[in-house]
Amino acid sequence: MCGIIGYIGYDNATPLLIEGLKKLEYRGYDSAGVAVHTEHSLEVVKAKGKLCALSEKLQQMPQLVGNLGIAHTRWATHGEPSEQNSHPILSASGKFAVVHNGIIENYIAIKDELLKKGVKFSSDTDTEVVAQLLDIYYDGDVLSTVIKVISKIEGSYALGIICAQRPDELIAVKKASPLIVGVGKGENFIASDATAIVSRTKDIIRLEDEEIAIIRAGSVKIYDKAKNEISKEIVHIDWDVAAAEKAGYEHFMLKEIMEQPTAIMNTIKPRIKDGKIDFEQDGVSFSMADLKNINKICILACGSAYHVGCVAKYIFEKILRKPVEVAVASEFRYMNPIVDGNTLVVAISQSGETADTLAAMKEAKALGARVLSIVNVVGSSIATCSDNVLYTWAGPEIAVATTKAYSTQLCVVYMLAIYMAKKLSRINSAQHAAFVEDLLNLPSKVEKVLTAQELIKSLAKNFYDCKNVFFIGRNTDYSVSLEGSLKLKEISYIHSEAYPAGELKHGTISLIEEGTLVVALATNDALFEKMISNIKEVKARGATVLTLTTEMHRAEAESVSDYCICIPKTSDMMMPSLAVLPLQLFAYYIAYLKGCDIDKPRNLAKSVTVE
Ligand code: F6R
Repeated sequence: MCGIIGYIGYDNATPLLIEGLKKLEYRGYDSAGVAVHTEHSLEVVKAKGKLCALSEKLQQMPQLVGNLGIAHTRWATHGEPSEQNSHPILSASGKFAVVHNGIIENYIAIKDELLKKGVKFSSDTDTEVVAQLLDIYYDGDVLSTVIKVISKIEGSYALGIICAQRPDELIAVKKASPLIVGVGKGENFIASDATAIVSRTKDIIRLEDEEIAIIRAGSVKIYDKAKNEISKEIVHIDWDVAAAEKAGYEHFMLKEIMEQPTAIMNTIKPRIKDGKIDFEQDGVSFSMADLKNINKICILACGSAYHVGCVAKYIFEKILRKPVEVAVASEFRYMNPIVDGNTLVVAISQSGETADTLAAMKEAKALGARVLSIVNVVGSSIATCSDNVLYTWAGPEIAVATTKAYSTQLCVVYMLAIYMAKKLSRINSAQHAAFVEDLLNLPSKVEKVLTAQELIKSLAKNFYDCKNVFFIGRNTDYSVSLEGSLKLKEISYIHSEAYPAGELKHGTISLIEEGTLVVALATNDALFEKMISNIKEVKARGATVLTLTTEMHRAEAESVSDYCICIPKTSDMMMPSLAVLPLQLFAYYIAYLKGCDIDKPRNLAKSVTVE
């Protein structure tokens, strides 16, 4: 989704801003622009399409030189992707330039009001009302002007603002959309995420809602809406800059798939002490009474994180014998949720900024639930808003399609389940020890599955031009099918559906015809024979079947399928971690062979910060 970077300092802003925008490309966008304070005026250059279009435009004109600037990658919401609608948006007088992430929900009313006053609008965006209000309210005091503007607008915003009359000030303010200030030496930044600035500074300040930052080259001052200066903590982010580079891989997605053994190890290892799962370093503990009082677990998430929730439902219900509801976060708020003080809410999110998940968990909190989040980005909004956080130590995930974050989220789910089951005496010490051993062996098994890369690449050659794919499975294999299907459709644009294998015959099987690809997941021993029946059902109707199973079932699976991928065995609970890997690689190679833009699929954004 949209990306923001702003700079003030000793260097020329333009190349720094373009470099920053390149780092934000992964978030998804359809136009980009930059505004630089040059001498006494604000110069704005914008282009529809990819960043190279903006760079080309900049090269064809006299150099844009200045020490203060803001820039933006826009993912269109209000108004089509066009140069006119891209940011920065200039106010009518040219005094203010604004970049904005989020949605101004009352912009139509404000726009009508301003149009009646004769203000001329030049875009279809909701953002333009901010620029025009700044113009109207400006009385020489930029802080009070911004306070007036944010008192008028409703919705979500992360705003970067520069003013022609303030060559030494960069202004930032946010509400329900992330924005950070990067603190450097003689230079400072704003950014929608740290990726954009981490090569220049790793010291950041996270702005809270309605805090206003007035940033100069040598100082950062933060105020509340009553103009009181607030002291804020500077957080040092422990990011390896190289982690956000491709390191020789053709795509971030493949690199991130291959990083999974390490990501899983980093997520599990620190939480196992003396053979026990220990969340002490996370500040998370549940007493026996806490656990006994939980009469329902409610999982809130979107997309792939929701699919982790679907796996978790099977696991928690089986091992804890507590009812689990998995809610698509965007639906949760509007379904009159049954949540109270005895509900444990588990919010799952890679970015920690997904607006739907954030809104849903706030709703759950207001209803009295304890909220535990599983998040990858440290200090993100979802992490900060939760009662407890268990971080997934996957490192920065750049490809839009999640892989390593999904895998690490699964691991946290396993650990939570085992930890709670032990406390509730639902498993004995021997079972606990066996699970812990399986957890510790997981990274090497993941590594082994990933060595099947070439086999999967050659299988993909048979299918990259197919039009429809069905994924089927039972129990957690069904949940993993949902993820395999999403991976395929989002990056290869091939239509695919995931179905519980037994459900196909209740309607969908009518879509199976000669040559339709069905990917059958059969990794659960107890359900293997049932899956064989389902495979035979679709084979009898002409399907081409690719079966994913464990080594011990190879012979039988091969006898009924056209193709087979075999993976090692671990406990049933942890099979999703191994089963998802071939599906990630399969989607990757199909998209690769189709020549798709794998890391930045069309219409998608990495961090979905609007509801
Ligand atoms: C799919 C994908 C999305 C995200 C979803 C939630 O590959 O990445 O479906 O899982 O948008 O995002 P987070 O996890 O950041 O809340």
